[in-house]
Amino acid sequence: MVAPSKDEIHHLLLKLHSLTGIVPIGVFLVIHICVNSLRTVGAWPYQLSIDAINNLPFLLVIEITFIYIPLLFHSVMGFYVVNHAKTNVHRYRYPRNALYTMQRLSGAVVFVFLVYHLGTTVAPKLWEGKHHFEAAPFLIDIMNGEFKTWQGILIYTIGVVSATFHFSNGLWGFCVSWGILIGPKAQRNGAIVFAMVGLALTFLGLATIAEFNMNPVPVDATVSR
Ligand code: HEM
Repeated sequence: MVAPSKDEIHHLLLKLHSLTGIVPIGVFLVIHICVNSLRTVGAWPYQLSIDAINNLPFLLVIEITFIYIPLLFHSVMGFYVVNHAKTNVHRYRYPRNALYTMQRLSGAVVFVFLVYHLGTTVAPKLWEGKHHFEAAPFLIDIMNGEFKTWQGILIYTIGVVSATFHFSNGLWGFCVSWGILIGPKAQRNGAIVFAMVGLALTFLGLATIAEFNMNPVPVDATVSR
């Protein structure tokens, strides 16, 4: 068997970078924003969803395999692409080129946001050993505190808007580069559909922030030890 060339490995890594942005990371983002938005229905549906997640068997293994490893790979490759990609000012005209620049910028912003977000939610949860039914009151307390301040609201608004833009614009790029949207008409229609997906996710994320801010309800553990 012939060993793959350097170019072939490079091409494969770029394809894997593109794919991981959709599956599993994009899928996770859509689920995460939808689950968080349960908070707008009430504190208990949100608590039940956190209970369900935190009582999954092998939760940490699932998270490391399907969230953290793909996220780390996608981020490292993203920074590699930003540092090595040739400028494409002459290839595309203004709107596409501006969106491409924003794609890179939003990726970097999401990375910084995630360091903050995970460092203030998952990390203290693991550090304090808040597992199973103890996770929800602990995390909801943190979220209530976060959205009480304008700084918390600002950080989360920037995080949500950057993530939903990065995902929906990335979805368009994915469909074009994988040959799903072929031709100008399909690409224009695709851009409209994905912009609507992005706006819907942004709306859900911002509504969640607003609900936490206006109605910070503390909760007790559903089942106590
Ligand atoms: C309204 C906005 C958001 C809220 C209220 C929120 C809330 C939370 C909470 C409570 C957790 C801890 C879950 C647990 O350990 O059981 C979490 C984890 C996480 N969040 Fe968010 N989040 C928001 C936005 C975002 C955004 C925009 C992203 C993506 C950029 C994101 C990515 C993540 C990731 C990757 C995890 C770790 C998942 C895991 O380990 O299971 N979150 N979030």
